[in-house]
Amino acid sequence: MRIWESGSAAAELNTKMFPELFLRSVSSFSTIAVDFLSMILRRIPVLKKYMEQTHQKTVIFSQGKTLPCIAPLLTTVEETLQVVSARVQGHFPEWLNGCLLRVGPGKFEFGKDKYNHWFDGMALLHQFKMEKGTVTYRSKFLQSDAYKANSDRDRIVISEFGTLALPDPCKNVFERFMSKFEKPAITDNTNVNFVQYKGDYYLSTETNFMNKVDIETLEKTEKVNWRKFIAVNGATAHPHYDPDGTTYNMGNSYGKHGSCYNVIRVPPEKSDLGETIHGAQVICSIASEEGMRPSYYHSFGMTRNYIIFIEQPLKMNLWRIISSKIRGKPFSDGISWEPQYNTRFHVVDKHTGQLLPGMYVSKPFITFHQINAFEDQGCVVIDLCCQDDGRILEVYQLQNLRKTGKELDQVYNSIARFSPRRFVLPLHVNLNAPEGENLSPLPYSSASAVKQVDGKIWCSYENLCPEALEEEGGIEFPQINYGQFSGKKYQFFYGCGFRHLVGDSLIKVDVVNKTLMVWREDGFYPSEPVFVPVPGANKEDDGVILSVVITPNQNERNFLLVLDAKNFEELGRAEVPVQMPYGFHGTFVTI
Ligand SMILES: [Fe+2]
Repeated sequence: MRIWESGSAAAELNTKMFPELFLRSVSSFSTIAVDFLSMILRRIPVLKKYMEQTHQKTVIFSQGKTLPCIAPLLTTVEETLQVVSARVQGHFPEWLNGCLLRVGPGKFEFGKDKYNHWFDGMALLHQFKMEKGTVTYRSKFLQSDAYKANSDRDRIVISEFGTLALPDPCKNVFERFMSKFEKPAITDNTNVNFVQYKGDYYLSTETNFMNKVDIETLEKTEKVNWRKFIAVNGATAHPHYDPDGTTYNMGNSYGKHGSCYNVIRVPPEKSDLGETIHGAQVICSIASEEGMRPSYYHSFGMTRNYIIFIEQPLKMNLWRIISSKIRGKPFSDGISWEPQYNTRFHVVDKHTGQLLPGMYVSKPFITFHQINAFEDQGCVVIDLCCQDDGRILEVYQLQNLRKTGKELDQVYNSIARFSPRRFVLPLHVNLNAPEGENLSPLPYSSASAVKQVDGKIWCSYENLCPEALEEEGGIEFPQINYGQFSGKKYQFFYGCGFRHLVGDSLIKVDVVNKTLMVWREDGFYPSEPVFVPVPGANKEDDGVILSVVITPNQNERNFLLVLDAKNFEELGRAEVPVQMPYGFHGTFVTI
């Protein structure tokens, strides 16, 4: 385990007190010797930081060292239907009573058919239940129609993001040819996130389907189709919530005049117990820059009064997508990174549904997850995990993730790292403002918003944590103290460092002082960190971080980790003798 603070006295101390000579001598030890040294040093807290710093240096600079194989984290596992007790080491706080619910792909083939892309795997639901210091675990495959149809026929019959379902081999040649022209079935394999509408939990991906689940039993209770309520073809798996339970989301629609990005509002109340997303409304439609080539987006930002939509040049070519089945290609073939276009920001008043007139543009970048957004001095401030190369979706093919040795290194080195960036969008642009003037009044941010000749506002970002994060492989899966600080000025966010193709560390970033803390254990891969506040606390980081930490090493156990969010020290871990794949997102539900 490694904990250090960058930009702080602790980091400076580490650098000063750890001479290069010792670094080199340690890196020349055999693996066994280093393991032995690690074991000894783990027991001496004062020396721990020195040893850990050494490890970091050897990983980055030693010759011939390759990334460890993570293929076991991306292979099919069994579901754990019977609740199993976890072995707790350290302690789980007595006040921490609830369930960490997570979802991700857990089955990657049916019969001889194999999925191509990580996003394609069948949804496996995980439940870690914490009660008075004890922890139990169970998991279950979502009984989606896609899962059932594939299971019944023992082959892939529903296409997923990166896998085209092939015609039934039992059909004759003519029937197989004609089946290419049949309307493709849309998947309901909702494997991305647990989301909430009107107090109920749903599993969501980005298609028009969601699956309502009983979070106690993990049973699917109802399949919900967005199209039955509003004219959208789906919604993101990252909605935002107002304190009163009103939920906002975004989804696309495709009409004869082209495609639109729609802001959706779902009311918090039910007038009938059996309701799902009844009362959902489209409150604003934003025309895409190009009618037949809307942008792909995975999330959006929200402040107290505004929705912020980012139109990035990761384009969905609708012609290619519509014709993909005929061409024998999966959906993913229709998505392309087109950096000749800029990234645009759209701001919508969430109370009136009005799209603000300001046209905000920046150099092309890609973002999947926003960190937080807030309003200050007439501006929207939005923080995002970004990078400049949008070809990353192609990289997450399963065959790439399962590579070993130098081939695996090549895959890793081909992708850019995600870093946290802050953009400032002035809301009320003075038409008489001179060109070239920075319209951001915020003294604490170097992000600028400069009026151009054409009236657009050119936005340049502030890097929220420039140097130390690079050594951690950048940061993704950002999370905040959402309940108390979503849409508000904030100081901390948490995420995974990516010194591998999946997260290999947990990071706490202080966006005000630009420092970070890191938790890492070699050979283990932590999931998205979920912040749970101490009941009644009002300090932003007064709480714990929960993360499911998994390993490809068959001799080690996976565990649920609980960290003190303040100092990133481990409070406890709950080991589970169950194989788990690397997943996407989750949430904590108090019981
Ligand atoms: Fe996501």
